Amino acid sequence: MSEAPFIQINDLHHVYLRDTPLEITALKGVDMEIHMGESVGIIGRTGSGKSTVVQHFNGLIRPREPGKVLVDGEDMSDPKIDIKRVRQRVGLVFQSPQQQLFEKLVGDDIAYGPKRLGMVQADRRERVKWAMEMVGLDFERFKDRFTFSLSGGEMRKTALAGVLALRPEVLILDESTTGVDPRGRKELMARLLALHKEHGLTLVFVSPNMEEVAELVERVYVMDDGRVVMSGTTREVFSQPEELFQHGLNVPQVTQVAHDLRARGIGVERVPVTVDEGVEEIWKILSSCETSPLVSTYQATR
Ligand SMILES: Nc1ncnc2c1ncn2[C@@H]1O[C@H](COP(=O)(O)OP(=O)(O)O)[C@@H](O)[C@H]1O
Ligand SMILES: [Mg+2]
Repeated sequence: MSEAPFIQINDLHHVYLRDTPLEITALKGVDMEIHMGESVGIIGRTGSGKSTVVQHFNGLIRPREPGKVLVDGEDMSDPKIDIKRVRQRVGLVFQSPQQQLFEKLVGDDIAYGPKRLGMVQADRRERVKWAMEMVGLDFERFKDRFTFSLSGGEMRKTALAGVLALRPEVLILDESTTGVDPRGRKELMARLLALHKEHGLTLVFVSPNMEEVAELVERVYVMDDGRVVMSGTTREVFSQPEELFQHGLNVPQVTQVAHDLRARGIGVERVPVTVDEGVEEIWKILSSCETSPLVSTYQATR
């Protein structure tokens, strides 16, 4: 990648409750870069610093010396920076939706950002409709619901819609799919993937779910104890299960199956990270066993 990264952080440190007995050093020198159009995962055990890092991406937390955060070349430690514009371009969906919802009605909550951007009523309505469709919330059914009466999953969807309604260039999801039911998650993943692939939306995905990370992102940073401890393509990172275990993580189940088969001497050509890839690899193995009754049955039914 030759272009300058859209978001670049260098040697970032962060201390909570500085100069108090409860002082916690959350970041101990983090370097990361996010390029336009990429889809990047940040994984790591609880408390490793993921949420602290991503809050630097849109200026919710400002960097301190010697740390540097550049967003589209702009230095985020500059107090004169147009922070409203940065937050429109870089949308962050929080870990807990309660932090994000503040209007009484779902429709108003999602319309809040577009209103602040000065959009007229008719355009706002279209934008809200679009954002709700994106997250799988029926416009007519939900627009007049009270935000406090929503289920956890619906709250998350509303929070996500509120950020999407700003049409950000970069969307950061900080464990934002937790609590959404499995089918809803799958649909949400598919829509996010479509926004990424078809509309070039840059995604930063923080999730404890390795299957979802593997489905959604091309590149991964692994954090532990305030530092980046591993990074690479999704396949490179998930090809090192032992190292991930040391950092309190695991690999997608289909990847684990492939590693276990390899350990038993069964040649898996390419370590799969998604279910589709797993099916392909297993099929290759079965096809090479000519005597396998499974294969002959399958071939007979084709
Ligand atoms: N607002 C806060 N005040 C004090 N400590 C915090 C705060 N937020 C996070 N921390 C601490 O900073 C460390 C990193 O937290 P966080 O960035 O939330 O990690 P993660 O998102 O990976 O779980 C943890 O030790 C956490 O307890
Ligand atoms: Mg977190």
